[in-house]
Amino acid sequence: MENRLISIKNKAVEALLSIDQMTDLNNLKASFLGKKGEIAELMMGLKDLSNEEKPKVGKLINETKQVLEALFEEKKAQIEAKEIAIKLEKEAIDVTLPGIKKEIGTAHLLSQIVEDLEAFFIGLGYEVKEGPEIETDHYNFEMLNLEQGHPARAMQDSFYIDPNRLLRTHTSPVQARTMLQSEGKPIQIICPGKVYRRDDDDQTHSHQFMQVEGLVIGKDISMANLKGTLLAFIKHFFGKDREIRLRPSYFPFTEPSVEVDVFSEDGRWIEVLGAGMVHPNVLKMGGYNPDEVQGFAFGIGVERLGILKYAIDDIRQFYTNDLRFLKQFKGGR
Ligand code: PHE
Repeated sequence: MENRLISIKNKAVEALLSIDQMTDLNNLKASFLGKKGEIAELMMGLKDLSNEEKPKVGKLINETKQVLEALFEEKKAQIEAKEIAIKLEKEAIDVTLPGIKKEIGTAHLLSQIVEDLEAFFIGLGYEVKEGPEIETDHYNFEMLNLEQGHPARAMQDSFYIDPNRLLRTHTSPVQARTMLQSEGKPIQIICPGKVYRRDDDDQTHSHQFMQVEGLVIGKDISMANLKGTLLAFIKHFFGKDREIRLRPSYFPFTEPSVEVDVFSEDGRWIEVLGAGMVHPNVLKMGGYNPDEVQGFAFGIGVERLGILKYAIDDIRQFYTNDLRFLKQFKGGR
């Protein structure tokens, strides 16, 4: 019997050496320690032994059983450790691989310019206002002294949605809206925003562009205040002593009206904005008495400013999302 048990043990040890899968281990374990395994078989044989032999042999079988169980446990732990090692290796992160670079965006150049303007004018005590891009004929034209059929409407070829509504052709309707809201109180606002005009796009024209409207209304406001304000702004924006020139011009909603040119680096005067003293009719329609208060207004072309400051050769650069262009301007937020 002892020899038999030793040979069973040796068989198990040998068999265990040749496997490394959990399923094989389970099968092997069943053949030795299972209900119909070799040990169970030996146990069955006990009943044929004499009462004297039974406990001795039973003890021997039990010892072998314990040894086998320990052997199988050990193998199980080995296989599990190996499986974990394989899994870890598969899931390992190669820390030497280059990472995925997250590009950090910047504010668009137009936004950067607008934010700069806002910061400057807020510093002078202005408030920033907004108005709708889909505007009524009433606010876009009539409240600005451009009644139906006014020839100056042709200066601003428009995108009409229906006879009463259009994409605003300038930010000036916000002047009228603000006056009505302010109920005769003094006003000091700017309004940045997109405007639209029918145009064939080329190097210098875009059917969509941006303006920053300015409006100041109060007692004793004069053309000198307008010029001083614009000059201070231009010096701030260009960061050096640029000269400006006021040229007489015509807008139905200002009187007198001027166009403001900035002296460019290549020695030319370039128009950057329209401005003037708010027309008495516009003040009246807005609920202000032109005998008591005056106002000035201006409309700055945002792209124009950018083109001048950064020597940009094509206005379409602002709208075609070419990263090579946009990445050159990393300022802003
Ligand atoms: N709204 C005018 C334009 O778009 C500019 C302007 C604004 C002129 C305010 C005078 C006063 O051309």
